[in-house]
Amino acid sequence: MGPSMPFLPGDRSDYVLFHEDCLETCRRLPSASIDLIYADPPFFSGRSYNTDEYGFDDRWKGLSDYLDWIAPRMKEFKRILKPTGTIYLHCDWHVSHYLKVLADRTFGHTRFLNEIIWQRQSSHNDASQGSRHFGRVHDNILVYTMSRKYVWNQQYVQYDEAYLKRAYRHVEPESGRKYALGDLTAPGGATKNNARYEFAGMERYWRYSQTNMLELLGMGRIVYARGKVPLLKRYLDEMKGKPLQDVWTDIRPVSTSRQNLHYPTQKPEALLTRIISTSSSPGQLFYDPFVGSGSTGAVCFKLSRKWIGSEVSARACRASLNRLAALGCEVVFNSGRLEPLTPTSRVPEDGKRSGRTG
Ligand SMILES: C[S@@+](CC[C@H](N)C(=O)[O-])C[C@H]1O[C@@H](n2cnc3c(N)ncnc32)[C@H](O)[C@@H]1O
Repeated sequence: MGPSMPFLPGDRSDYVLFHEDCLETCRRLPSASIDLIYADPPFFSGRSYNTDEYGFDDRWKGLSDYLDWIAPRMKEFKRILKPTGTIYLHCDWHVSHYLKVLADRTFGHTRFLNEIIWQRQSSHNDASQGSRHFGRVHDNILVYTMSRKYVWNQQYVQYDEAYLKRAYRHVEPESGRKYALGDLTAPGGATKNNARYEFAGMERYWRYSQTNMLELLGMGRIVYARGKVPLLKRYLDEMKGKPLQDVWTDIRPVSTSRQNLHYPTQKPEALLTRIISTSSSPGQLFYDPFVGSGSTGAVCFKLSRKWIGSEVSARACRASLNRLAALGCEVVFNSGRLEPLTPTSRVPEDGKRSGRTG
């Protein structure tokens, strides 16, 4: 990994946690210094989340109170992101539509990349308790990039069985390899700059240049349907899987897993692994403005990304520091007064800070 973060006073590590409002941390960070942000703020749920150990308050005077709180933070997120940077903004039905408008204004609506629907659970069992609405089982994750030049590592998931049975139903007798047959004509025609030429007696726009088609033919990768229409043989064992789409149904919440630290709203590492792997490279700098139980820190450490986090709750700071220490990750803990501190020993037992914390 490259050198640490020279712009942070007291810098000793690639992992730094600030016990303070993320607005204050952002103001310490230079413009265009961060590669990726994942922001998982309070969702305007109107709830006070509390377990025996941890908790935070998500109750507000009203919607404008919440939006007035998040708007300046979002502006700062934009300022600190590099021109190649990306931000993931995690929310749910309470304010996703307001945050979309705010984020469109902040980052520019043309910089909107995706809205990911993360289905957290398959169903809510509250119909028997009188709920009269469809089960709310998904979160929304809004993704914006700072420019067209952003990091993108395509992710793949397993094909579903029905698709495999349908598409990869051919088996090569000599090798036993399963394959699908794909169209070789180019759907976009001339508009997509595809080459038009005669192949196998048919004049068409083709997906590949004439040279590549001849090469594929030579490799035995082209077969003729009904003895006439050329089709491409795609072997299953060469495929990476199905490119990941924007509806994620394969990641379960932490409640039943060993990761569960009983931090309310803790996000699964699988979700963050997917986000961080897609939109950053090893050695790049990640910022989490709402650290909670430290899920992003743990994943950044495992994926060799540098990490800065902010968290207003002392108990959450403690949970994160302990979680990262258990992984062998050395974190510089900064109480907000810019003194580098060591983990755990200097986190106050109950450090409720004054002022609105979210
Ligand atoms: C939804 S939780 C984050 C959960 C986290 N992603 C995880 O996996 O554990 C939001 C967190 O933001 C913290 N928070 C609220 N307002 C904040 C602020 N202004 N600056 C930093 N942290 C804040 C809360 O204390 C809470 O821990």
